[in-house]
Amino acid sequence: MLTYSAALLAFGATLAAAVQPLEVQNGVFVNPKTGNQFHIVGIAYQPGGSGGYNPEKKIDPLSDKDVCLRDAALMQILGINTIRVYNLNPDINHDECASIFNAAGMYMLLDVNSPLPGESLTSWEPWKSYYAEYLNRTFAVVEAFKNYPNTLAFFSGNEVMNNEETGATVPPYMRAVTRDVKNYVKKHVSRPIPVGYSAADVRDILQDSYDYLQCSLSGDKGDMSKGDLFALNSYSWCGESSFKEASYDELVEIFKNADVPIFFSEYGCNTPSPRVFTEVGTIHSSQMVGFSGGVVYEYTQEPNNYGLVNISASGPVTLLSDFYSLKAQYAKLDFKEVQGLKAPTTSKPKPPTCDSKLITTKGFHSNFTNIPPPPPGAQDIIDKGVSPKPSGKIVKISDWKVKFDVFNNDGTKVEGLAVKPLADDEINQPGSNTAVVTQGADSTAGGGSSSSGSTSGDSKDENSAPRSAATIFTALAMGAFAVMAGMI
Ligand SMILES: *[C@@H]1O[C@H](CO)[C@@H](O)[C@H](O)[C@H]1NC(C)=O
Ligand SMILES: *[C@@H]1O[C@H](CO)[C@@H](O)[C@H](O)[C@H]1NC(C)=O
Ligand SMILES: *[C@@H]1O[C@H](CO)[C@@H](O)[C@H](O)[C@H]1NC(C)=O
Repeated sequence: MLTYSAALLAFGATLAAAVQPLEVQNGVFVNPKTGNQFHIVGIAYQPGGSGGYNPEKKIDPLSDKDVCLRDAALMQILGINTIRVYNLNPDINHDECASIFNAAGMYMLLDVNSPLPGESLTSWEPWKSYYAEYLNRTFAVVEAFKNYPNTLAFFSGNEVMNNEETGATVPPYMRAVTRDVKNYVKKHVSRPIPVGYSAADVRDILQDSYDYLQCSLSGDKGDMSKGDLFALNSYSWCGESSFKEASYDELVEIFKNADVPIFFSEYGCNTPSPRVFTEVGTIHSSQMVGFSGGVVYEYTQEPNNYGLVNISASGPVTLLSDFYSLKAQYAKLDFKEVQGLKAPTTSKPKPPTCDSKLITTKGFHSNFTNIPPPPPGAQDIIDKGVSPKPSGKIVKISDWKVKFDVFNNDGTKVEGLAVKPLADDEINQPGSNTAVVTQGADSTAGGGSSSSGSTSGDSKDENSAPRSAATIFTALAMGAFAVMAGMI
């Protein structure tokens, strides 16, 4: 079988080096070449927010080379090795952006859904959204991204269950979509790109969501409806907190025996603001048993006030104080240690067999025999493949210089900004890109609150998401929320 690097070599030596496609082994992501575990040092990437995905205008977050160059360079400076992208249009070309992030040493976590009607499983009456055309789109996203070596995983759903009501109906449909996407990958992709769910960290239903989606279903051939990973969007660590205070200890308890990679698909509570990101040290420590890192929410400043950088409509970018705070936290990590762990050689305990007794919340779906079969027409697409088939490939990037102005928070310009293409198999880490950013007196400190002149970080600011102590564990679907709020 032709390996990815062999295939790339065949294209010609002028192509930029590529990251090593990762595999899942014994509950972690592994670089098969080095045998090292991969820890996600990720960031949610949706420049332009809502409007950044617009099927009519044929744009999505990975459609503009110059934008991707600018953002990949800044993420390199931070130390990011993974981006999460929520809304993708399978029918436009992503080759340049995928190639830029690949050369910058970054993997991609990709949602196969979008919040537009017909493009995701709905939380309410999920059966109404489960049909062949919808699945066809999710498979098309797989087709569009399967050839990039830095495609790390596909999310089959994001926070579709977020309370007891949706937990009553969604679970069998979520297993069904996961099964369909996994079957598609198995049939049409030359490597086993993992597929799994990104959950809301709603503690009332988190354990049940995990147990329902990840238990072993006898008779379900090869457990096709079981996720290859399980991720959660978690905002329980706010400000100066701790492993216990943020109840990360509870999370470790829930996932300690997980047989699939577990990670934060979003984190980064924004009250108090500006953020201190003290969770970074813990997330990437041995305390988080069973966890493979996390994705900070999020790169760009949007109305919900989670951004590290502020992008003006014409393209110039200003770094916000959270950018420097996060950078400083990453700089404290020992990346040799974080990325140098060998993959475990012993298998994890087998997951429990699916049984209604696993489910503890009253009303949460506990029937495992009614996972719906593929809807009419869908099996045919799984068998024959999407038609016409989108496809992507790594391409040559000839100019790595950033074309937009980037400013420090004190208004001074960041000089000499460019993506630094890394050597073959290298992943990005702090220090890879040596362009200098400097934090000055925060001229934008008043930016978010200049109109009111109130203290920054006031959670009642209409622009910031409400995150009182009471709502910590019933965090709304921030990703979906942010995206949908803007879509409307
Ligand atoms: C399936 O997806 C492809 C690629 O996006 C699209 O061109 C085609 O029209 C879709 N087919 C159906 C039946 O939805
Ligand atoms: C589970 O679903 C199956 C198929 O719909 C149904 O026949 C069975 O009665 C359900 N079991 C329970 C306990 O509701
Ligand atoms: C971001 O930039 C816009 C102008 O493009 C400005 O109105 C806004 O206050 C800035 N936000 C922050 C947080 O600096």
